[in-house]
Amino acid sequence: MDLFEYQARDLFEAYGVPVLQGLIADTPDEAAAAAAKIGGTVVVKAQVQVGGRGKAGGVKVVHNAEEAREKANDILGLDIKGHVVKRVMIAQGAAIDKEFYFSVLLDRSNRTFLSLCSVEGGMEIEQLAVERPEALAKIAVDALEGITDAKALEIAKAGGFNDELAAKVAPVFVKLWNVFKNEDATLVEVNPLVLTKDGDIVALDGKVSLDENAEFRHTDREEVSIAKVDPLEAKAKALNLNYVKLDGSVGVIGNGAGLVMSTLDVVAYAGEKHGGAKPANFLDIGGGASAEVMANGLDVILNDPQVKSVFVNVFGGITACDAVANGIVGALNTLGASATKPLVVRLDGNNVAEGRRILAEYAHPLVTVVETMDEAADKAAELANR
Ligand SMILES: Nc1ncnc2c1ncn2[C@@H]1O[C@H](COP(=O)(O)OP(=O)(O)O)[C@@H](O)[C@H]1O
Ligand SMILES: [Mg+2]
Repeated sequence: MDLFEYQARDLFEAYGVPVLQGLIADTPDEAAAAAAKIGGTVVVKAQVQVGGRGKAGGVKVVHNAEEAREKANDILGLDIKGHVVKRVMIAQGAAIDKEFYFSVLLDRSNRTFLSLCSVEGGMEIEQLAVERPEALAKIAVDALEGITDAKALEIAKAGGFNDELAAKVAPVFVKLWNVFKNEDATLVEVNPLVLTKDGDIVALDGKVSLDENAEFRHTDREEVSIAKVDPLEAKAKALNLNYVKLDGSVGVIGNGAGLVMSTLDVVAYAGEKHGGAKPANFLDIGGGASAEVMANGLDVILNDPQVKSVFVNVFGGITACDAVANGIVGALNTLGASATKPLVVRLDGNNVAEGRRILAEYAHPLVTVVETMDEAADKAAELANR
């Protein structure tokens, strides 16, 4: 789960990382009020979960409340790499002397944590990484030791900081490590970390990704997650379903993540012949597809206004097909009149004959049973395209 910059700023502040004042605004009026409250030079910053906002015109320096209103008006609604700006942060302006780069992240391939650091930070960091990779230090961080004072100095030196600057930034690196560790993050990035003309070190932009698998350790985080999660995803989560909203029109339910992933591919492929129909979601109901789980899954999918048809793709393994068929029957009975979209069901594997018999006998007008996965995907895409 990625945080917005203003959420990262708040986290940094809580850990003693030096940040400047920042207030969020959803309208030009709110932006003007925030600028007046902070006073002096402020920066209007688009709050979208994508980098390169500065280059895309999403970061503007202004000198009074009226200008803040104008720039907020320009930035709100702006499309930055497919992300429409709905909120801005009004940040206190910094008098920047130098811009640095620092991050710590989970390095899956090397099974460790990794810190990246450069004295040459700012908006050109991607270019720097490509053109002069030696200027971007990559230092492995031991999971148990973490970033100690000594390690922080090592990172800063490797990143090209001189002794005096290294001594200034190192304590900030340690605090950023505390954010990373205690919040169970997979990424904490500050670009730029700046030296101000007054000689202070300040984190001017923050990017934080949190590990959702550790969410149970952070029950106080409700607000943070709600800011981003889609309402259907929130509902699915409350029902304990593995659901991801996508933007097509064919709802997909399957058992087992691998089967569901390949179902998405097959549907996308079949959709090419049917007006470009695409999967509307990923939904894995797991091994034991009980009537209740099936009903919950169908309930979430049928409530997605973009869904035009549903493809139920189940391979009976430990859970036999007859149990799954009974699950579908139970789900349709539970949903009653609220089930209004066509369902294409493909069952295979353990006890398939009995499963198909149950569905044939039930003979629900919205249900079509199809034998193979390809045929079923084709049928579902065709129905979605009608
Ligand atoms: N509070 C601020 N005061 C002064 N300049 C800022 C401030 N925030 C950002 N900037 C400038 O704008 C640039 C881009 O902003 P940043 O927040 O890093 O967005 P992005 O990385 O998405 O482009 C920074 O490198 C910095 O030069
Ligand atoms: Mg930045």
